[in-house]
Amino acid sequence: MTRADLLIVGISELATPLGDAARSGADLGRLSILQDAAVACLNGQIVWVGPRGDVDQAVRTEPGTRTLDAAGGTMLPGFVDAHTHLPFAGWREREFDERLRGATYSEIAARGGGILSTVKHTREASREDLTTTVRARLDRLLRLGTTTVEAKSGYGLEPEAELKQLHALRDAASGHPIDLVPTFLGAHTVPLEYREDRGAYVRLLIDTMLPQVADAGLAEYADVFVDVHAFSLDEARQVLEAARTHGLGVRLHADQLNDDGAAALAAELGAASADHLEFSSDAGIEALARAGTCGVLLPAATFFLMSDTPPPGRRLIDAGVPVVVATDFNPGSCPCDSMSAALWFACLGARLTVDEAITAATINAACALGRGKVVGTIEPGKRADLVVHDVPNRYHLAYRFGTPAIKHVIAGGEVIR
Ligand code: NIG
Ligand code: FE
Repeated sequence: MTRADLLIVGISELATPLGDAARSGADLGRLSILQDAAVACLNGQIVWVGPRGDVDQAVRTEPGTRTLDAAGGTMLPGFVDAHTHLPFAGWREREFDERLRGATYSEIAARGGGILSTVKHTREASREDLTTTVRARLDRLLRLGTTTVEAKSGYGLEPEAELKQLHALRDAASGHPIDLVPTFLGAHTVPLEYREDRGAYVRLLIDTMLPQVADAGLAEYADVFVDVHAFSLDEARQVLEAARTHGLGVRLHADQLNDDGAAALAAELGAASADHLEFSSDAGIEALARAGTCGVLLPAATFFLMSDTPPPGRRLIDAGVPVVVATDFNPGSCPCDSMSAALWFACLGARLTVDEAITAATINAACALGRGKVVGTIEPGKRADLVVHDVPNRYHLAYRFGTPAIKHVIAGGEVIR
């Protein structure tokens, strides 16, 4: 018999991938499904999962044990959002309206709007204000069922402001139930003051910013946006190779608006993930599969940019790439922070099945962040990051799209809602 300090019963369906490795191909949609289930936790970890009827033999409850009734809801692992740009100041709703009137994302970026307008607001924000903003966003994410989140800098684009963003992430996440994985994205775009000398900005990234970030332990990963308005393949290779010498993992914004050959670069560098991939060539996608690099779909961003090119869900799956689904939460291309919404768009836009999308939003995302042994599935030994959705079974999560139905969120064994 196992002891428990939290027992969750009344789970009409428990749906989870199993194991600690990223899944691909036919395995992507292979879930363990348990009807009328119960889960026991102790000291923030899952200690037992099984049929409700077995609880009495398997779990020893004590006077202090809390019992939570899921009341017929569906339990999934907590969502792992493997791609966000959390620490930004200011929104860009006017640009959104301009896009509705016909302007494109690239046109807005080319005239100094887009990322650069968020850079202006983020540079002006104090570290304290940014920390408060991030903390409020973490609180909201947790209520939306996200228990692990990756978060990128990239709206500072100068040493002081990039460090300020990363410090805001660290300060806001300290003591917070969400596990936050910080990424240095100083190579998001070339700031205005370096447009005439891009090489000098790349050197600033490599000689000054990366060493400072690494020395202060402020990031686990470095990311580069490869794009005609951002960085070339060669510049990205220089920055990411330098990042690796500082012990950082690497990831890439790849082939979002054109085929820039960035998927192949991600594979060549052994990146943890290549993200977006709408315009990747077949050769680029095959290279990702061979390298075992995760392909991160950001289908809510594709939808929000009103792109005619769908996220390459089936192309990645058919090629054998371990697929991840994330939000891309940011003020320009995806102001939506809900992983439930990412799941709808993964199914309805990227053509994943519900079961594939669940794996992509949990264990595969955890693996893309180096946390596959810790979270991403509902199994003894994993952290007790659990979400009860107010639906009778998992299909309703995408079928009744448009209404997130989060009933309970448990993070590290703590009942948040
Ligand atoms: O992932 N593509 C580059 N970066 C973000 C958008 C950032 C912004 O528009 O502020 C993205 O879509
Ligand atoms: Fe992004």
